[in-house]
Amino acid sequence: MSRRTDASAALFDRALAVTPGGVNSPVRAFNAVGGTPRFIRSAAGAWLTDVDGNEYVDLICSWGPMLLGHAHPEVQARVAEAVTRGTSYGTPTEPEVELAEEIVARTPVERVRFVSSGTEATMSAIRLARGFTGRDVIVKFAGCYHGHVDSLLASAGSGLATFAVPGTPGVPVSSTELTVVLPYNDRAAVEKVFAEHPDRIACLITEAAPGNMGVVPPEPGFNAFLAETCARHGALFVSDEVMTGFRASRLGQWGLDGAVEGWRPDLMTFGKVMGGGFPAAAFGGRADVMSRLAPEGPVYQAGTLSGNPIATTAGLTTLRLATDEVYAHIGGAAETIKAAASEALSAAGVTHVVQSTGTMFSIFLSPGVDGRVRDFSEASSTDATAYGAFFHAMLDAGVYLPPSAYEAWFLSSAHDDRAVQTVLDALPDAARAAARAQETHA
Ligand SMILES: Cc1ncc(COP(=O)(O)O)c(C=O)c1O
Repeated sequence: MSRRTDASAALFDRALAVTPGGVNSPVRAFNAVGGTPRFIRSAAGAWLTDVDGNEYVDLICSWGPMLLGHAHPEVQARVAEAVTRGTSYGTPTEPEVELAEEIVARTPVERVRFVSSGTEATMSAIRLARGFTGRDVIVKFAGCYHGHVDSLLASAGSGLATFAVPGTPGVPVSSTELTVVLPYNDRAAVEKVFAEHPDRIACLITEAAPGNMGVVPPEPGFNAFLAETCARHGALFVSDEVMTGFRASRLGQWGLDGAVEGWRPDLMTFGKVMGGGFPAAAFGGRADVMSRLAPEGPVYQAGTLSGNPIATTAGLTTLRLATDEVYAHIGGAAETIKAAASEALSAAGVTHVVQSTGTMFSIFLSPGVDGRVRDFSEASSTDATAYGAFFHAMLDAGVYLPPSAYEAWFLSSAHDDRAVQTVLDALPDAARAAARAQETHA
């Protein structure tokens, strides 16, 4: 039984007339799954309400930020109180110092600079890495998304260790001809690129644990290997924790590897959770590297709304409330949903792989290779048509999954028994819908 979507459809028509594709970020348009994008009117805890009055358990949590659920009373109260003092001054403020202190206390970064989006954070980290090293080449992995930075919207060139080609029209060849794109989890490819471009690589940037091709965890020791290889060649290791930061664990992905193994990235990028649902992001790292940044050093970087007092208040309140109990709760709910999804898909005969890192997980509707997905080419074998059927069956049953087969599923501390049970109840029918879609297009 499909839900009414008249009000969403009417708003989408209006949006299409004034906004490309009717949305302000492509995945929201449902192009990968079809159907009418739901326009959300409000949200509370684990639940979204759309403009037709339909309620959904939210499994995207604004693509990661809403770690405590929507409209958390304390975050709301602090933000409301902060707004009474004005919303932006273009001067330094106390909340940004407090948020910087919190991030420095919780991560291996020694200095941090705030920006307004994850894209700005990675773009600025790349510039700083180039300014610090005096080198120009950057290395990234296929399937890792670091925002819509020209030099990072790159596809692999014709061979390993060759320079990349633009990943989208509008990116000039000159922006990607200093970028090398490698297969993820491939140590030999990393060794080869450093051997082929000695003294030219400014940095290697990676998602600390990729979540933008579905969750593809680093193989044990892979991040440590990257850090060590960069150090050996005088390049900086940039760990992008925009998605995983304060999400995969209390200390992000670093808490699951570097903190245990005893190494630290040279630079890190953060966003999402640290903004508490507001546009705030950051990059930070070694003090000697960060001191190359203006006004202390010569590498220019700036922002009118950087460190905005409302955004930093929301982020600070969120991080202070993000206790071990919060992560334990989210981890428990994630385990329950993962197990139930896998059971439902198996019962329906749908081959799948469930992968996770900390509290983040995703489900590939494909056999993977030896039951695992290790890189972008393996992730690409997921059955997007079957996922579309699965997604719509879940949506009809009141569960809002990511509208794309290549995304992580996000939970919050507000996902209580009722929310989790709604997901569990929806899974068997959705798995059967995926199986039927596979039969039809087989
Ligand atoms: C790992 C990673 N880096 C960077 C970004 C870009 O962040 P933003 O969308 O805030 O520009 C994202 C966004 O999803 C991300 O997941």
